[in-house]
Amino acid sequence: MSKQQRGKLVVGNWKMHGRLAANTALLQAVAQGADELPADVRVGVCVPSLYVAQAQSLLEGSPVVWGVQDVSAFTHGAYTGEVAAPMVTDFGATLAIVGHSERRAYHRESAELVAVKTQRALEAGLTPIVCVGETLEEREGGLTERVVGAQLDEVLAKLSAQEAARLVVAYEPVWAIGTGKSASAEQAQAVHAFLRARLAAEGAADVPLLYGGSVKPDNAEELFRQLDIDGGLIGGASLKAQDFLAICKAAAATSVAG
Ligand code: PGA
Repeated sequence: MSKQQRGKLVVGNWKMHGRLAANTALLQAVAQGADELPADVRVGVCVPSLYVAQAQSLLEGSPVVWGVQDVSAFTHGAYTGEVAAPMVTDFGATLAIVGHSERRAYHRESAELVAVKTQRALEAGLTPIVCVGETLEEREGGLTERVVGAQLDEVLAKLSAQEAARLVVAYEPVWAIGTGKSASAEQAQAVHAFLRARLAAEGAADVPLLYGGSVKPDNAEELFRQLDIDGGLIGGASLKAQDFLAICKAAAATSVAG
């Protein structure tokens, strides 16, 4: 499949932001803006799990899909505070971020746990957005490919080729997240090409590869023009409808219809 045929995917990662009233305005604005985008640009939002029902009631019937930022490694049971993937699907959600660097760092999620969570998401029918990325120290030590390769391999090792083909993978260099310091388009493309080759070896060459880390309206288009960048996972800029929609429009400008 060519780059054009893959289209573009832009997903907002709200992290632990938002309240009921503000979410309504943001979701309505995103739904309205997404209506005007070409069909080959898909838009999603990953909200705090408590608000997934709100996302469902405001986004159902719109082109915007929704989801959560994490799922449990278990389907049910005595796991206080956890949210299971099948529960998420009760609210029409189709996306689940897994292995975000904030969860790997602050919640000590191992590569193995991320792989199990990916399996639970797939079993429930969700599309896992598997995040990989290196720290600044790792990049400066020349370890980027080794680190992101190992993170991806741990997940792929647990999946059939058919399951692997249902993933979305997000390359999010830790040093670029929330820092205002995005990877350059060349740096991001180089890692995406590496990830693409790894996925191709598993028969999953067409998995959408998103870039995340300080994507803003003014740098989105250059990033999205790269051969192996199929869209973005957007943190801070997804909290402002105007900025998020500007990034979606940048995706449209780089798609076939754009
Ligand atoms: P950022 O976050 O866009 O605020 O850098 C991206 C992410 O962590 O998914």
